[in-house]
Amino acid sequence: MGTPSFLPDDPDLPPLCQEELPASKAADVLAQFNSDFVQGCTKCRLHEHRTHTVFGQGNPRPDLAFVGEGPGADEDAQGVAFIGRAGQLLTRMIAAMTLTRDQVYICNIVKCRPPGNRTPTEDEMQTCAPFLYRQLAVLRPKVIVALGRPATQTLLASKMPISKLRGQFHDFPPPVLAQAGLPATKLMPTFHPAYLLRNPAAKTDAWDDLKQVMSFLGLKIPER
Ligand code: URA
Repeated sequence: MGTPSFLPDDPDLPPLCQEELPASKAADVLAQFNSDFVQGCTKCRLHEHRTHTVFGQGNPRPDLAFVGEGPGADEDAQGVAFIGRAGQLLTRMIAAMTLTRDQVYICNIVKCRPPGNRTPTEDEMQTCAPFLYRQLAVLRPKVIVALGRPATQTLLASKMPISKLRGQFHDFPPPVLAQAGLPATKLMPTFHPAYLLRNPAAKTDAWDDLKQVMSFLGLKIPER
């Protein structure tokens, strides 16, 4: 199947936020959206085995937002994104960027844990992505870092391998999402921390990607 000329949104959800909100209001809007639409979601089969939905957390008006794949066992147990082993590496990556988890926003493409930590299916990601679009329309980050292949390919509506997409900024939203009304921003794909735990040699490339993000955001790159 080829890439569609547009990606469907979810007509059951409220329209995307069209304005820049102050942080306190953005936090309220996100919390309300989570409790009204995400916490009780049964739109796909992933709800059947979840303990908690994992909405995402952090700065409600960040310069930088990280988007991963989906919750693992620890995240499902606690309802918080990226707190297991991969999350601990992500915390160190954020610290290497001279930032803290509270300064950025951290979330996932799918809000429920795929059984056995399998990769979410295309269908599950397309069903859940409209939640993320609404989060991003409130957050309005200057840069989105997409962690790994599923997040990158879903957000860019691309089938290209992560090895070809990473290392350069892309425009977000891509043309097929233009009709959704998302605010324009930059997206940097990089390797998922779980992949980096298995393939530490790829950390150099991931750090190069994050340094590009730091330069874009005007952050001083520490000497190592
Ligand atoms: N992997 C992800 O993609 N997200 C999490 O929240 C945890 C692990």
